[in-house]
Amino acid sequence: LGVTMYDPGYMNTASATSRICYIDGDKGILTYRGYPIEQLAESSNFLEVAFLLINGSLPSKPQYDTWKKHIMTHTFIHENLISLMQNFRYDAHPMGMLVSSMAALATFYPEANPALRGEGVYKQKLLRNKQIYRIIGKITTIAACAYRHRIGRPYNQPSDQLDFTANFLYMLDHLSEKSFTPHPKLVHALDVLFILHADHEMNCSTAAVRHVASAGTDPYTAIAAAASALYGPLHGGANEAVLHMLEDIGTVDRIPQFIQDVKDRKKKLMGFGHRVYKNYDPRAKIISRVAYEVFDVVGREPLIEVATALEQIALKDEYFVSRKLYPNVDFYSGLIYKAMGFPTDMFPVLFAIPRTVGWLAHWLELQDDPELRIVRPKQVYSGHQTRDYVPMASRE
Ligand code: CMC
Repeated sequence: LGVTMYDPGYMNTASATSRICYIDGDKGILTYRGYPIEQLAESSNFLEVAFLLINGSLPSKPQYDTWKKHIMTHTFIHENLISLMQNFRYDAHPMGMLVSSMAALATFYPEANPALRGEGVYKQKLLRNKQIYRIIGKITTIAACAYRHRIGRPYNQPSDQLDFTANFLYMLDHLSEKSFTPHPKLVHALDVLFILHADHEMNCSTAAVRHVASAGTDPYTAIAAAASALYGPLHGGANEAVLHMLEDIGTVDRIPQFIQDVKDRKKKLMGFGHRVYKNYDPRAKIISRVAYEVFDVVGREPLIEVATALEQIALKDEYFVSRKLYPNVDFYSGLIYKAMGFPTDMFPVLFAIPRTVGWLAHWLELQDDPELRIVRPKQVYSGHQTRDYVPMASRE
């Protein structure tokens, strides 16, 4: 107490204890509630992983069925929210639409707002569970509306008869003009991507949700704040930035010049490097396999050649080796999304959907944290000493 540690970027500061997600960055290990990500990606599905992250254990069959029913019946969004979304500019970035619409949802559910109903409101388990069902249910509908808006088509209603990820693809209806049945292999691939992105301990957006919620802010607004952090190109916007980078490089023969630009600090190799993983990102390994499963269905994405060559060259280059820079989850995810037909600006939205579950797990954990205090870091002041106000007429 009384000692100020200067730690920009919080490289050495733990701001909470958490039981949700574990990463060993040196060994390339990622677990959710103790279960290795490889096993979950292989054998589970996104809604089951969502239950696990939020409730702490894998569900029994009846628990899973009830969970799924709760979430899928909350996929519908209020007509007024639809009107609000319809009034965005025709070319509004889908992530901007998602952030604003999530914040707007708070105004539809005043019973969930501690600012209106008192600080103790989230001691009521039923009430907080309801916000969780609503947010997980509605995030795909908001995302799908943002996509339909982006392509200038009417919004589609959700179907609570479908599974979570199939319903999302169904609402997009982007691969067919007629009655649309999502391809089961694409549903599975997207479901695996959702599992891989569901949580990642104290990353920038999760720290943001905890930061905002520590002030007692309602979960919709806190999740909107997290989504705002995710929007940034160094975080969830990286998959979009990777695609732009690969498009700029264009062909394999232009890679050496690009690498030189990175070394000269004119550019960054997007999709490489991670604050925690200094060996490899286990999600990147799984994702490169998923990429080829998707290409089997929709055809090969031509930029995959540039991506694979770039990865091979960078992994052998002294600049990247000495700094322990390896491909992260975003290096391949954008290529998969592009091959599936998503416009580039939808990529961060496809990250935000599953990460909403992680944010909610942290929001929930925080409600019962006996150590919870409003987050209020210190600063090291480097401005002027106290000085006297000078009237405008006397200023130089
Ligand atoms: N390209 C070129 N150089 C890099 C890169 C990169 N992608 N990443 C780090 N470096 C260099 C950096 O310039 C520094 O060099 P030096 O010591 O000579 O100054 C050194 O490596 C250490 O980097 P850092 O910036 O101190 O590392 P950080 O932990 O602060 O940043 C990062 C982590 C992810 C922001 C960064 O690696 C980066 O900007 N990567 C590209 C963006 C990206 O792919 N982001 C997605 C992250 S994974 C998904 C998620 O969690 O959101």
